[in-house]
Amino acid sequence: MKITLSIIKADIGSIGGHLQPSDKLLNTIEEHLNSYGNDQFIDFYLGYTGDDVFILLTHRKGINNRQIHQLAWDTFMVGTATAKKQRLYGAGQDLLSDSFSGNIKGLGPAVAEMEIEERENEPFLVFTADKTDPGAYNLPLYLSFCDPMHNPGLLLSPKIGDGFTFTVMDVSHTEQDRIIQLNTPEDIYNLAALLRDNERFVVESIHSRKSQEQAAAASTTRLHHIAGKYVGKDDPVLLVRVQSHFPAVGEILSPYSIGHYVAGFMRGSHHGPLMPVKKNTTVSYFDGPPMVNALAFCVSEGKLTEPVDCFDQPFWDHIRDKVSRKSLDLREQGFSGPAMLPYSELEYGGITHKMEELEKRFDFR
Ligand code: F6R
Ligand code: MG
Ligand code: MG
Repeated sequence: MKITLSIIKADIGSIGGHLQPSDKLLNTIEEHLNSYGNDQFIDFYLGYTGDDVFILLTHRKGINNRQIHQLAWDTFMVGTATAKKQRLYGAGQDLLSDSFSGNIKGLGPAVAEMEIEERENEPFLVFTADKTDPGAYNLPLYLSFCDPMHNPGLLLSPKIGDGFTFTVMDVSHTEQDRIIQLNTPEDIYNLAALLRDNERFVVESIHSRKSQEQAAAASTTRLHHIAGKYVGKDDPVLLVRVQSHFPAVGEILSPYSIGHYVAGFMRGSHHGPLMPVKKNTTVSYFDGPPMVNALAFCVSEGKLTEPVDCFDQPFWDHIRDKVSRKSLDLREQGFSGPAMLPYSELEYGGITHKMEELEKRFDFR
């Protein structure tokens, strides 16, 4: 019997300004989900990373299911009511529509879903990030699925040695989904050529070439394309199945030791290194740093185990120190050059008006 994993996240309000949701908000959401019968879904897990609340649902309704998306939308609406009552900052921020229209994608929340035939053992990871955008997963996914420096299984295991099929989305297209499929290893240079441009090309899914099974699903939403203006960073979510025909969990985690520079951070307008953090971590320094959490689960007929917090291990304390140093290194140069995002990616429009005013003051000599 097939089951579907759906992770849906939204920033619907936080304490202190984009830091983290309140206990009351989380309790409201939990109570709301618990009030549903299990004809709607089989199990759920609720958590947050920075100011983004996420719901992991297991069910039998398939991806893009209207009832599941409606349920998530209603849940975020109920949470928003609590956020408004508590006057949390940015209450309902990511709910960009007044009403639900059949699919939560395109309404603000980020979604990643996979319909799977459960294997005899079904381990998978859930990644949730804050203060960054969907391109943040491009490099780690490339390294985990294509590079023997991070994934020795590509050399050692015949189950993954045939490579993977990447589906990459051109997120500059807003009217229609524009995608390309590339097979590794033969296409890895083409894949790298696309994935270096994190703001335009984003990994949407990955499949095993050996078993044809789906290995990964990521959210690809870009909020400023939906709203027509910037309303916050997209704070992407990602599902990755691990072991056997997929990379080992440690091969998936390995690239997060780099702390690679991603878009986001203060006012969604800077670059900063991606810090692997423990679950339910708050935002802090310079409204960041950009952060990612990874939770491991096993699932049996849709029933989830408790999560294991992958970055809650002494090794990652060392990485967090390194990432803090990388963060300070770039912060030392303030607004200059690579520290700040290019014009088209700035989260705030204020600089446009400033430039318009300055244009008027320019003259030819
Ligand atoms: C970035 C982010 C924060 C805010 C900043 C100012 O994505 O959420 O860095 O941009 O705290 O917020 P406002 O403009 O709401 O005062
Ligand atoms: Mg926010
Ligand atoms: Mg956020």
